[in-house]
Amino acid sequence: MTIEDARAAAYVNHDWLTDEFVRLLLLQDPASVLDVGCGKGQLVRACAAAGIPASGVDQAGPRLDALIEEGVDVRVGTAYDLPFEKGEVDWITLRHVPHHLEDPPRAFAEALRVARTGIHLAEPWYDLTLPSQRGSLAVDLWEKRMDRMGGMYHAATLDLDELLAAFPADIHATHEVHAHRSLRLCDRSLPDYREVAELRLSKMQDGAAQMDSLDELFAGLEQTGLSWNGSLTVTLRKRSR
Ligand SMILES: C[S@@+](CC[C@H](N)C(=O)[O-])C[C@H]1O[C@@H](n2cnc3c(N)ncnc32)[C@H](O)[C@@H]1O
Repeated sequence: MTIEDARAAAYVNHDWLTDEFVRLLLLQDPASVLDVGCGKGQLVRACAAAGIPASGVDQAGPRLDALIEEGVDVRVGTAYDLPFEKGEVDWITLRHVPHHLEDPPRAFAEALRVARTGIHLAEPWYDLTLPSQRGSLAVDLWEKRMDRMGGMYHAATLDLDELLAAFPADIHATHEVHAHRSLRLCDRSLPDYREVAELRLSKMQDGAAQMDSLDELFAGLEQTGLSWNGSLTVTLRKRSR
């Protein structure tokens, strides 16, 4: 197997989780959607394909430029200051974005301002009752540590309590809250992941100095095994008065 194959395997899981997220969103019958932190535009495209007016915002960069060039309805923006009026969009989505935010309460307050009906968000999730999922969390934490060494803000994923604590204290009075966990338990090959991780270190400044931490990670993974992450989706729908 090549690194490209290993990456492709990652996308099988990523795509399945994205489809699940979209499926749960469509159950809310959204009139329009704004995807905050839209990444490669998968969600915007999926909504558009379902006939739902959808747009996205993300940080400036080549990935967003490519989407704009392609004609996908995305624009530069930040979760903290959305370029939309109060109540202008029916639903706001933030998929696997909260752990990228230094100030989740501020971003969620902004989403509540712009969303007329609700907020649908997700974070990666690990079923820690399963050894291979504990391995998956260890990989996630190691990778985030490497990202932070490169200067990126990349925190641990927020669990349900942490997500809800970042909303105003009366959120249960104003919104119905539903949580859904999706996991398709699927093993991930340790040799393939080792190849991916070593390639990553080879491209990092001072990456060689992190080889010991990688060996330590793998000593744990030999015990637990490794599977792909799941996702926690939280849907907050405004209560009708
Ligand atoms: C893990 S990616 C998720 C991308 C996409 N939502 C998905 O599910 O595939 C996190 C995304 O959040 C974006 N992001 C991080 N901080 C942001 C901010 N303050 N405002 C808007 N987007 C942000 C990143 O640029 C990145 O595209």
